[in-house]
Amino acid sequence: MKYAHITGWGKFVPQRVLTNDDLARMVETSDEWIRERTGIVERRIAGPNDTTASMAIAAAIEALDVAGISGSQVDLIIVATTTPEYAFPATACLVQDALGATHAGAFDLSAACSGFVYALSMGADAIKAGSASTVLVIGSETLSRIINWKDRNTCVLFGDGAGAVVLQASDQPGGLLSTLLRADGSGGELLMIPAGGSRQPITAQALEQNLHTIHMNGREVFRFATRVMDRATREVLHKAGWTPEQVDLFIPHQANLRIIEMAAKSLGVSLDKFYCNIAHYGNTSTASIPIALAEAAASGRLRPKDRVVMLGFGAGLTWAAAALEWSEPNPAARSWRTISRLGYGLANVRSRARRLLRRLEDRLFGTPEPAWKAPPSDPSKNGVRGRPQKSSRPAEAPALNGIGEGTPGMT
Ligand code: ACO
Repeated sequence: MKYAHITGWGKFVPQRVLTNDDLARMVETSDEWIRERTGIVERRIAGPNDTTASMAIAAAIEALDVAGISGSQVDLIIVATTTPEYAFPATACLVQDALGATHAGAFDLSAACSGFVYALSMGADAIKAGSASTVLVIGSETLSRIINWKDRNTCVLFGDGAGAVVLQASDQPGGLLSTLLRADGSGGELLMIPAGGSRQPITAQALEQNLHTIHMNGREVFRFATRVMDRATREVLHKAGWTPEQVDLFIPHQANLRIIEMAAKSLGVSLDKFYCNIAHYGNTSTASIPIALAEAAASGRLRPKDRVVMLGFGAGLTWAAAALEWSEPNPAARSWRTISRLGYGLANVRSRARRLLRRLEDRLFGTPEPAWKAPPSDPSKNGVRGRPQKSSRPAEAPALNGIGEGTPGMT
């Protein structure tokens, strides 16, 4: 039987800090209100060059370094995100290319803030089923680009960042021992982005009404979160054969300190056993658990054999939990950093070469004709039949730099 161990971890947060006082200059709120109601003091906001993929890549490189492996050894990359770079291609494919993960499959996973635990469960299952030996699991978000910065109900809550772990197969018992994935779609409208999908594409009217940004019924989400945190923890602990007292560290989704406090209380566990960094990052959705995990591991808070429980909840509605036994670090990983940087440089060269080759092939041989030929198009009609036009590059993304140019407090 194979076990899925976490052998590497990493995080990336943007440099730009947005404090509660900065927010109080933008909307009608105060440092006191935000601290008291959420536990958040500041959050990180993506700079002009930070994207969901770039942050995912930075966190992944750190995680691969800790594991002492290269991108080419990865079999599967799962990026959990609610802010993918595009509807398609998957952000995971951009990560795959940058890491030179030439033997890996790659896909994005959408389960909102539960996404990282969902992805971890999928990765561990792939290892246990024997279809992968090394899986990179990432949570990455640029939520600052989907927030309505005029809505005080939501804009004070979220931040940007990424976290990643490497899961590796081993015959040694331990690693991810039990997981629990749940959903209740009847609560979908409690937390959503109404426009921008296929049901309601973005139109001028949708933009005007801010339907492309986060809409949330905070009170209902709060109620749901406090209910499922307790229930999911107990279920995943039962599966692992542990009691709440036996757990060394809980790593909850960092959405609101009061939700974490209530979970600790209802489980009868001291709040000290819950890792909390919400004060510094706010809610980074799929990234919050792997960022916390990476910090806990890097600061020595996790020792081999420690019992860890991760808990996520979010839009969908979804919730998820995972119980894992912390693994021994890889002693061979230390001198890896310089060699790995060379590898990522080569991956970049390889990627450019492949693009160039594709363009050359197109010039030399043209686009292959399909076996089935469409009837010739009638230019007088506004149809799109016949041979497709030469594809043009997608338009450059608009400059969505953080919270928008000219926003008070951010210039
Ligand atoms: N500053 C000042 N006042 C505010 C602010 C603010 N930033 N936001 C709301 N208020 C006001 C409200 O308008 C309301 O005023 P009213 O009584 O005059 O109507 C008052 O404060 C109380 O509002 P509540 O919504 O009852 O405040 P609550 O204590 O519930 O806190 C909060 C709101 C922080 C949003 C809380 O409900 C919460 O954390 N909910 C869960 C949210 C969450 O976790 N979402 C993410 C899920 S993960 C994912 O998938 C993305």
